[in-house]
Amino acid sequence: MTGDVLLRDVLEEDFPVFFEHQLDPDACAMAAFAARERDAFMLHWTEILSDDTIAKKTILFDGRVAGYIVSFGQPDKQQLGYWIGKTFWGKGVATRALLAFLGFVKTRPLHAHVAKHNLASLRVLEKCGFTIHGEDTAPSEAGDPDVEEFVLRLGSDGGS
Ligand SMILES: CC(C)(COP(=O)(O)OP(=O)(O)OC[C@H]1O[C@@H](n2cnc3c(N)ncnc32)[C@H](O)[C@@H]1OP(=O)(O)O)[C@@H](O)C(=O)NCCC(=O)NCCS
Repeated sequence: MTGDVLLRDVLEEDFPVFFEHQLDPDACAMAAFAARERDAFMLHWTEILSDDTIAKKTILFDGRVAGYIVSFGQPDKQQLGYWIGKTFWGKGVATRALLAFLGFVKTRPLHAHVAKHNLASLRVLEKCGFTIHGEDTAPSEAGDPDVEEFVLRLGSDGGS
């Protein structure tokens, strides 16, 4: 893998880059997310930035903002989320970012809800040690049919 992947604290100036990344229709289809309008997106991220219960990092690839990674939720139900800009796909960015994030966020178990069709995300999680723990259904944000998900987990309820 070429190119350096680093995590740093999220800055407000990253928001417009994250916003552009989530406008991509292919990315939205993968994640089964509906893109947010600019104002709603900026408010969403302003709230995340001021919420100390949410762990968040900006992902840098060769010094450029390539995406973000977050974990949120109750301590016993911590969930993971990440989004990489399309320009940076297929370079091992998500995998290397997640491995680094797992050294930063020590909470276990850690869960990820992934649309069953999102094979790239499932592969990223598998490479980082997550295994399929169950299934779930999420209401679609775009008014489409409900989203069938796999629930992946790292670590057991007893830790590690
Ligand atoms: C999913 C996503 C995070 C992957 O990021 P990435 O930086 O390209 O991921 P990586 O390069 O680290 O790894 C991708 C892996 O998936 C594999 N992959 C990619 N597309 C695939 C497909 N259609 N079928 C099977 N495997 C696929 C790659 O080959 C690679 O595995 P490998 O290293 O064994 O070859 C990125 O595409 C993204 O942000 N998508 C939009 C938002 C999203 O889906 N977020 C996650 C919500 S759960």
